[in-house]
Amino acid sequence: MTGTDRLREYVSRSSRIVFFGGAGVSTESGLPDFRSVDGLYSQKYDVPPETILSHTYFYAHTEAFFRFYREKMLFPEAKPNAAHLTLARWEQEGKLSAVVTQNIDGLHQAAGSRRVFELHGSVLRNHCVHCGQAYPVQAILNSTGVPLCGCGGVIKPDVVLYEEGLDEKVLNGAVRAIEQADLLLVAGTSLTVYPAAGLLRFFDRRRGPLVLINRDATGMDDSADLLLRGKVGEILAAL
Ligand code: APR
Repeated sequence: MTGTDRLREYVSRSSRIVFFGGAGVSTESGLPDFRSVDGLYSQKYDVPPETILSHTYFYAHTEAFFRFYREKMLFPEAKPNAAHLTLARWEQEGKLSAVVTQNIDGLHQAAGSRRVFELHGSVLRNHCVHCGQAYPVQAILNSTGVPLCGCGGVIKPDVVLYEEGLDEKVLNGAVRAIEQADLLLVAGTSLTVYPAAGLLRFFDRRRGPLVLINRDATGMDDSADLLLRGKVGEILAAL
């Protein structure tokens, strides 16, 4: 029985699948991930991207933040790939209870997923730091320099920057979903960023298997019940 056959078998028996994903879920939609050899953090910059994408840098070098952000973090043309579409179908079929994602690209919702816990927020949601007015991503795409609200305040993306905390409600919802899952499918993540990666400990292995699909090795490889080395979109499309 191949790994894909075993995954097919697991999925057929499950009715409360939770998918936990990272940037590797969107690479087949043309978005770079962060830590692969061709990832965003592997490119040469005078200031490391993890520094640029931080709370301190946002307020101290706002113009430079938005130059990087518009160029490297926004992909308005990106379309959901087979991974996103398969997960949305499983939710409609009553097999999947939630997607927990570290991604901020909104592609799961674009594919039709409804119960999505965006641990690191979303580029699609933005708000004025002064008056709180909400803005769509177009307010960033269709402006240059520092995007300003009508009140004069800076429009800040609703993404969790380094040094910022995760939204409690989103975290709690993700933990509850993972605790009740009968199959935890982890894919496209290096599992190196906390607290996101730490949520996997809430999965109760007595309820079902933990499956890991990732192109490169991760620290979780040895403890997965099933490990598939490959591209998550291709693998889910072949089920
Ligand atoms: N299929 C399966 N795995 C893939 C694919 C693919 N098509 N493409 C890339 N990968 C794997 C890579 O091998 C890598 O291990 O996805 C993983 C992506 O890891 P990272 O680039 O570290 O992305 P992620 O785990 O989501 O990073 C977590 O770090 O900078 C922060 O906030 C940022 O949410 C991000 C967090």
